[in-house]
Amino acid sequence: MKVLVTGGAGYIGSHIVLELMELGYDITVVDDMTNGNEANLFPNNQFIQGKIQDSSVLEKAFSKGIDAVFHFAAWKAAGESMTDPMKYTLNNLNGTFVLLDAMLKYGTKYFVFSSSAAVYGAPKYLPIDENHPTDPENYYGYTKLAIEENLRWFDKLKGLKSACLRYFNAAGYDPKGRIRGIEKTPANLLPIIMEVASGLRKGFEIFGEDYNTEDGTCIRDYIHVSDLAKAHILALDYIRTHNESLTVNLGSENGYSVKEMTKIAEEIVGKAIPHKIVGRRAGDPAKLLASSAKGKDLLKWEPKFSDAKTLIESMWDLYKSL
Ligand code: UFG
Repeated sequence: MKVLVTGGAGYIGSHIVLELMELGYDITVVDDMTNGNEANLFPNNQFIQGKIQDSSVLEKAFSKGIDAVFHFAAWKAAGESMTDPMKYTLNNLNGTFVLLDAMLKYGTKYFVFSSSAAVYGAPKYLPIDENHPTDPENYYGYTKLAIEENLRWFDKLKGLKSACLRYFNAAGYDPKGRIRGIEKTPANLLPIIMEVASGLRKGFEIFGEDYNTEDGTCIRDYIHVSDLAKAHILALDYIRTHNESLTVNLGSENGYSVKEMTKIAEEIVGKAIPHKIVGRRAGDPAKLLASSAKGKDLLKWEPKFSDAKTLIESMWDLYKSL
């Protein structure tokens, strides 16, 4: 089966590429390498450098015949999306439409979409299931929701079958150590903690300790990227065999606070990781927790690497070697 992975040299994309390689798929990666890492390109796959907004780039990929697309080429910094929304419009929205246009033109029927729990906004109840109202708090989350809505239309109008995968807090690295390129300029908690532990930065800040949680810091649902990768393959199988679209949460259903994660990381790296407590970051809910019951049931999927220790160990194995 021939698949296109947009953003396949990036953090999540490269882990999906690994999983696809293990299963023997014929893989084409399109990546403009802004956030992609050369170390994450594997020699047996076809690689086309360029932007998804550029239809001539996509033409090169689709002309060889593509059966399914995994779409990761998007910006993902929620804070930045509030100050530079047009950057997100042009890539996350426009870019995806150019991609969908190419799919329709070439008759590619299956689309696996990297969506986000950011589509829900502030939680109205926990754990968050797929029926929770969608009301994004940032423009990034809005771009994901807008694409999801369009995918439902393109299913109705054009028979395009999609899997919208709403990730909670993706983290970790391939436990077998095959991904060597770290994320460039990360904005998320765990890669920042790892950068401090490995000496790439001096310290980090904990955004608020006055939340209504046991230790006052925010609780999140961390999901290992290799568990995510498995779910992507199962999701493609599902939409193909059932010939129907799918929207599912991908989370571990376990919550850890910022302080808990810091402590576990300190135990794993065997030293203190310098940090200070500062004020709250705008738009952070106290607690996010997924219900992944639907995905587990429909996809027969179970996270294997998403307990905090395994997850952070898999990151430290890479960061300690930098
Ligand atoms: N945090 C810090 N210091 C930092 C970075 C983060 O204290 O330097 C805290 C945040 O305040 C938050 C927690 O760590 O309480 C996790 O923050 P992240 O920035 O790592 O992740 P978010 O929960 O904000 O968002 C992530 C993804 C979103 C997704 C969301 C779903 O980036 O795309 O998880 O749960 F929607």
